[in-house]
Amino acid sequence: RGKNDFAGLRVLVTAGPTREPLDPVRYLTNRSSGRMGYAVARAARDRGAAVVLVSGPSSLPVPGGVGLVPVTTAAEMAAAVKEHFPESDVLVMAAAVADYRPAAVSPDKLKKRDGVLMLTLVPNEDILTDIASRARKPGQVVVGFAAETGDPRPAALEKARRKGVDLMVGNDVAQPGAGFDVPTNTVVFAYPDGRSEQLPEMDKYEVAWHLLDRVLTLRGGRGSC
Ligand code: PMT
Repeated sequence: RGKNDFAGLRVLVTAGPTREPLDPVRYLTNRSSGRMGYAVARAARDRGAAVVLVSGPSSLPVPGGVGLVPVTTAAEMAAAVKEHFPESDVLVMAAAVADYRPAAVSPDKLKKRDGVLMLTLVPNEDILTDIASRARKPGQVVVGFAAETGDPRPAALEKARRKGVDLMVGNDVAQPGAGFDVPTNTVVFAYPDGRSEQLPEMDKYEVAWHLLDRVLTLRGGRGSC
């Protein structure tokens, strides 16, 4: 699929989970494999974009020609996205960023004791909300993903408005063939003006291709299917 309609554009993609350490041997994380974000990075590269991929821990091979910025925690991901956003034309946040981190990281391995162990978690900064509230360059497009259980449309529409993005891609992560660590996804595109568009189940690379078409439309160019 040789298209060059992203030539000259810089696309910043986040992918994978974050890991929030508890002590030197334990961490909190989620089931993101990185597949969705890596597919967006590959599709953008295939369409001629210069791609920077900020990735949490993932076992996937880095797509050739894509600049990898490896990160571990949400705070590291936030710093990398803030560094690269100003020079980017498009940001796609497919990463599953941890909403909370342990309030304290023990320098030593926590010892097993009798009884329950209580953990105190503190909220992480919402990277997407911070970025989307900043002044944009002309044509700069910000896209988020919304991981939901159940019909993702209402939550994706609500998150599109609340987080201030141009497009929110909703997926029902409880559905087979969608969400975490599978090659396919079923998504709904949700816009802050209340419009939405349901796509059938397809390969994540195909989802990425449709997503990039919508990005071009948002930039005022011509998309294709
Ligand atoms: O990696 P895979 O195995 O292929 O799985 C793909 C996926 C399910 C991870 C992906 O399709 C997806 O839904 N990614 C977003 C997961 C998520 O964090 O959703 P959310 O609804 O909690 O967050 C909404 C948006 O805010 C996301 O773009 C997220 O990157 C962003 N966010 C969230 C929390 C936070 N502290 N900072 C953020 O920027």
